[in-house]
Amino acid sequence: MTAPTDIDAIRAAFQADLGAVATEADLQTVRDRYLGRKQGAVAALMKSMASAPTADRPALGKAANELKREIDQALATRRQTLEASARPAGGVDVTLPGRETPFGRRHPLTLIREQVESIFGAMGFETLQGPQVEDDYHNFEALNMPPDHPARDMQDTFYLDRPMPGAGGTPSTHPATLLRTHTSGMQIRYMETHQPPVRIIAPGVVYRRDTPDLTHSPMFVQVEGLLVGEGITMADLKGTLVAFLQAFFDADTRVMFRPSFFPYTEPSAEVFISCVFCDGTGCPVCKKTGWLEILGCGMVHPAVFEAVGYDPERYTGWAFGLGIDRVALLKHRVEDIRLFYDNDLRLLEQFPH
Ligand code: DAH
Repeated sequence: MTAPTDIDAIRAAFQADLGAVATEADLQTVRDRYLGRKQGAVAALMKSMASAPTADRPALGKAANELKREIDQALATRRQTLEASARPAGGVDVTLPGRETPFGRRHPLTLIREQVESIFGAMGFETLQGPQVEDDYHNFEALNMPPDHPARDMQDTFYLDRPMPGAGGTPSTHPATLLRTHTSGMQIRYMETHQPPVRIIAPGVVYRRDTPDLTHSPMFVQVEGLLVGEGITMADLKGTLVAFLQAFFDADTRVMFRPSFFPYTEPSAEVFISCVFCDGTGCPVCKKTGWLEILGCGMVHPAVFEAVGYDPERYTGWAFGLGIDRVALLKHRVEDIRLFYDNDLRLLEQFPH
């Protein structure tokens, strides 16, 4: 088909051709036919103006330019509707942005644990892993916890099998297995197989039969620390823990040691830091005391050294146990410990990769 040469005829023919356009290829053909530089109808029209009477030329030129603009506009509009309808349901729209592949990231508790490992690592402590299924001996007995110690209560401990009663009602010698209630058993495991000097930390999951609430979870994470050598004193314990806490929280953090009791340390202490929320002035988180309890510690009890065959006259040492969940709650101002175990991406995505 050849394009007509007079303005109205061109317009009418273009409208008809445009109406028949079904594909992008059709659209290109029509564009070439009307706006093509050499063969196009509008180009031919311009050329034909050379033979028109001089007086008519300005009006003709104006009309031809208008027609050109009109065609251009109509083609653009048609192109848009074609593109929109070229995305059938189920078809591939190559103009859509790609789908993001979500990256995994480390759990907030893992991040805290790694930070603790790195600070103690810089002070020369080795990091150990140990079994979560532990025996009664390592979890309790060797830690100077007698059989009637309240921490051994079935209320607190997940036993995997019960101690067998010995013959004639004598105390059991059968090693009960349980889910470890703390990481302190790692002190025993390490000292059984190594001689002093000892400088270790042992992070890991522990279990207790607590009903879950804002501050309790039946599974949580601790880090155990142990240092043994000759001439080790409580001053070493204080110095190391203060250095750790100030590296971990803030250089201005104040640290308070308060007498406490643990069967495997003597003397024992609870350690508090100045409240990270109110800087010690008193707020709901620290219950207006200005202090937050952060860990338990003490000088290793001679009975523990005897259990592992160390000479308590020659060696002294200190140990501590730190709750990673508690530290994470404080550091990130999370109010419910259960959030750490729910695997809700809305929480987990807020921590760095
Ligand atoms: N095992 C204690 C707990 O689970 C924490 C602890 C306290 C560990 C004192 C220690 C220590 O090594 O010396 O609460």
